Amino acid sequence: MAFNPEKFITEATEAIRKKIGKEKAITALSGGVDSFVAATLAAKAIPGQLRIVYVDNGLMRKDETKRVSETARALGVDLKVVDARKRFLDALKGVSEPEAKRKIIGEAFVRIFEEEAKGHGSTFLIQGTIAPDWIESGGMGRDTIKSHHNVGGLPEKMRLKLCEPLRELYKHEVRMVGKGLGLPEAIYQRQPFPGPGLGVRVVGEVTEEKVAIVQDACDITESEIDAAVKAGKMERPWQYFAALLPSKTVGVRGDERAYQYTVIVRAVRSLDGMTANFSHIPQDVLEKISTRITNEIRTVGRVVYDITNKPPGTIEME
Ligand code: XMP
Repeated sequence: MAFNPEKFITEATEAIRKKIGKEKAITALSGGVDSFVAATLAAKAIPGQLRIVYVDNGLMRKDETKRVSETARALGVDLKVVDARKRFLDALKGVSEPEAKRKIIGEAFVRIFEEEAKGHGSTFLIQGTIAPDWIESGGMGRDTIKSHHNVGGLPEKMRLKLCEPLRELYKHEVRMVGKGLGLPEAIYQRQPFPGPGLGVRVVGEVTEEKVAIVQDACDITESEIDAAVKAGKMERPWQYFAALLPSKTVGVRGDERAYQYTVIVRAVRSLDGMTANFSHIPQDVLEKISTRITNEIRTVGRVVYDITNKPPGTIEME
């Protein structure tokens, strides 16, 4: 039977009300489709019992905090912004193993939610976990591909009870629900962004300098692909972004030898993120992305385009 977003909204709102009862809940808005839809459903279900928090973990897209705050304000959503940039960067210092990074990020998020929940008196955490998150985190006896931060990254003894209204949905269904809830298209059509943020796009150890490089490289990649889509040169990929490799390579700047970072540009077609094919991007668009990245980010000397499908790759680098 075809997915019916209106029916889902009615049933999910009722299910949230029933689950939370007379207690209070906290929910986190990351700016992505899943969390926006989960928070909007929650706000509809239990308006007087909810606190909506946005955690700036220093691993968000360029200007994201400003953008999310403005969008929430325009939607009439009362948002509490928590500046936790230093806390996350400190916790990630010296850590380069991907699963360890994911666990640290997941744990820091949950600790912050617990602190916020305590101040608000909430006993529940409402999360926008969707089906691929828990399937890939080793759900139903499957192998763990990655611990998605809102699943495998959760500390075992979390003090908050969980409510995950989107747990059975796939991304395209979440977008339909977002549209049904009346969210702006710029939100429900937004490309997915991983829970651990740019932490999984800085390969290896995360530093402030490297996050800033990835923010700029992602911004250039997104804006050039958006422009190409608008000009009718290509279809919008499922996801398009940049990541940073930990090793440097040799190049030339002017007449001098340069030893600089390598950025990977990635764009994929996919329906639900479970499998994906790399996108065929017009050569001139790739060239513009590469030229802009090396011109505008002076510490990057090489740009490569990722031509790996999933499987055997994954969409993100870690
Ligand atoms: P991978 O890299 O596993 O990603 O092929 C599949 C899709 O999931 C996103 N992703 C995440 N989303 N928490 C999330 O909510 C996470 O920890 C996480 N890791 C990856 C990724 O961006 C892609 O859309």
